[in-house]
Amino acid sequence: MNNTFLKACRGEKTDYTPVWIMRQAGRYLPEYRRVRGKVGFLDLCKTPGLAAEVTLQPVDILKVDAAILFSDILIPIEAMGMKLEFHETKGPFIDNPIRDEASVWRLRTLNPAEDLPFVAETIKLLIKQLNVPLIGFSGAPFTLATYMIEGGSSRNFVNTKTMIYRNPGLFHLLMDKLTTMIICCLKAQIEAGVHAVQIFDTWAGALSPGDFREFELPYVKRIISGIETDVPVIYFPNNSGAMLNLAVESGADVISVDWRIGIADAVTILGDKISIQGNLDPTTLFGTHDIIRERVSDILHGAAKARGHIFNLGHGILPDTPVEGAVAMVDAVHELSSK
Ligand code: CP3
Repeated sequence: MNNTFLKACRGEKTDYTPVWIMRQAGRYLPEYRRVRGKVGFLDLCKTPGLAAEVTLQPVDILKVDAAILFSDILIPIEAMGMKLEFHETKGPFIDNPIRDEASVWRLRTLNPAEDLPFVAETIKLLIKQLNVPLIGFSGAPFTLATYMIEGGSSRNFVNTKTMIYRNPGLFHLLMDKLTTMIICCLKAQIEAGVHAVQIFDTWAGALSPGDFREFELPYVKRIISGIETDVPVIYFPNNSGAMLNLAVESGADVISVDWRIGIADAVTILGDKISIQGNLDPTTLFGTHDIIRERVSDILHGAAKARGHIFNLGHGILPDTPVEGAVAMVDAVHELSSK
């Protein structure tokens, strides 16, 4: 197996900089759209043969150095009792959002083997076929809590923050339940064979540093120490350049950074005990190949002093991205970083 990605996670020397793309399986690929034309998104996640097929697509097409399990961060909260739907244009929608004490107490304790058997089955199918490492993942507890409380995506997170500022005990209870669930799901993925895990904290940047420290960081720490594993853990606190000094305390092997901070500045904050992942602005892939190459080169140079660097976008690839832009990025990373 090509283990360049795992070496960079652990801070070992590599022949070139490994690269993968957050949300690399998805609508920008005609091959993905063909599969999705026949089956709804949630059914795709729950059908191991198809989930494995779309996981492999970007590995073959883009030649990335890692695969990421095809699933969604919201799948486990559906199993906890949230009524989840995906609307074609508006994204996730939850019909029974959490607004009171009873709805937190009602949440089911999850048993991955019984409630999410398709996850381990997909991982097992993939392990047999892949020649690069497989990344498992979960949402971070704050990010999952926002979907559960808001009932979908949100601009200002007013319901979530109302709970934090009016009933912090209830919010902590919800976070505690989510933390237990996340540890359980990540352990099950590791047991099934994933080689690394990433914790997606898409909405961490909505919190002030003080609130991040009080209402999110302790839970992320508990997850990372609680999964008790040798597999590398990547933490992605999106839009959190101003809180990277706090993210460092999470215990992650790798911190993934978005493009709103220069990567050299981020490396300085992370120090020499944590590897870095990132951080090209996803919209760069709509630009010319010359621009893509130039920006890739800037990031590779900016990360030169990192303990280890895994190249990635600063957030997920956008649905209308030209495939050739993504290919140009991967090729540029491999070529420009080769010794
Ligand atoms: O990265 C991968 O290729 C693996 C699969 C993956 C998906 N979602 C597939 C998906 C992963 C790792 C995720 C994570 C995820 N899901 C996050 C965190 C990362 C991020 O981008 O911030 C979040 C916040 C979600 C929740 C979610 N799922 C939203 C908000 C949406 C709708 C918006 C959108 O991008 O479409 C989804 C749907 C979703 N998840 C799609 C895919 C491929 C598109 C569904 C479709 O085919 O119509």
